[in-house]
Amino acid sequence: MRQEVQIEILRELMGQLDAGVNADAGGIRMCPTDTYTSQDLLNKEWGTFFLGHPQVIGLSGDLPEPNSFITCDDVGVPVLGTRDASGKFRAFLNSCRHRGSMVVHERRGTSSKFSCMFHGWTYDSTGSLVGIPMREHFGEFDSTCRGLIELPAMEKHGFLWVSMDPEGTIDADGLFEGLDDDLTHWRWDQYTFIGEQSFDMRLNWKLATDTFGETYHFKRLHRNTLANSFHGDVLSYRSYERNHRMVLCLKSIDQLRGQPESNWHIHHGGFPVYFLYPNVVINVSNRRIIVVRVYPDPKDPGRSISRVGYYADPEVIADNPAASESFGDGFSAVVEKEDYALAVTTQRAAESGLQDYVIFGRNEPPLHHYHNTFRKALGMEELPLYTDAPT
Ligand code: FES
Ligand SMILES: [Fe+2]
Repeated sequence: MRQEVQIEILRELMGQLDAGVNADAGGIRMCPTDTYTSQDLLNKEWGTFFLGHPQVIGLSGDLPEPNSFITCDDVGVPVLGTRDASGKFRAFLNSCRHRGSMVVHERRGTSSKFSCMFHGWTYDSTGSLVGIPMREHFGEFDSTCRGLIELPAMEKHGFLWVSMDPEGTIDADGLFEGLDDDLTHWRWDQYTFIGEQSFDMRLNWKLATDTFGETYHFKRLHRNTLANSFHGDVLSYRSYERNHRMVLCLKSIDQLRGQPESNWHIHHGGFPVYFLYPNVVINVSNRRIIVVRVYPDPKDPGRSISRVGYYADPEVIADNPAASESFGDGFSAVVEKEDYALAVTTQRAAESGLQDYVIFGRNEPPLHHYHNTFRKALGMEELPLYTDAPT
């Protein structure tokens, strides 16, 4: 994020605090609660947002050196991601070309060769088939045609994108639309992986995403946690087609008053949160980021799994190696134990079928944006904007 943008945002937040106003969506929207419970809708979402759209499977720091690898299986396609010996990011279906068993079972590691545990067919980090025990039993064939099935893969701004369609394409400009400038400056491609955790909970995947969409709840739900260091009810917000950027307001912003703007840095008073369509939320603190990828259970609208990855500037880790040990405690205490725990109760009420709508206030513009973006992508009518909540 460029310095002039940082200053503009900090000024905006101070202005909101002074005027007692918040980001304003310009009206109110009513969101049908079956958004969170419909299996039909989930079927469409699964096809459009997950199988039919490139997925972030991790960050550059997940593949820290040549021949490092990661595996994942979040959208029903087992994926092996590698950084080959030349440093190029590649992705493959994690399935042996002999009888289809999973080739790599570890979550992450470093290896120049992958040997299938079933009969020992062996592949290198470019996916090429390089070894077949008792090869004579398979007759003559061209082993270059029996490499791991490669999936389109792209590494940009530190994100590892994979298309689950071997014939698919990845549109780099479209994926980062509106955010290129900020992301170029953050240099997250240099960050080191610290740790990860998963929250598997009884809430629709969009309810999980919703919890990152406003600061109206900070003074109440987070009164003993986030509210100690954040001002609630203020927010800098920009949407860019399908992506958006929020900047939350730290209480330390008050110390910037009277200081020359040239000394201001966003982390002195702001906490950026990016939404990368369709399911990635990036929480940005000083030289550390927390990346949340939210996935539905395709058979259960009431369940989602959030994969949470922690990354930091290598200098932060060098300065304080102990910091990487308790990496997830604070985030889990707030997001898992407060935000998601409460959203579970919303899910339960939605499933009762007795409440037709929930309301997105003027002060919750990211929720307006997420939901209408999703609806538009599925060819659904957008939620209309009302001046007052209809009864
Ligand atoms: S299934 Fe992998 S070697 Fe047979
Ligand atoms: Fe929250």
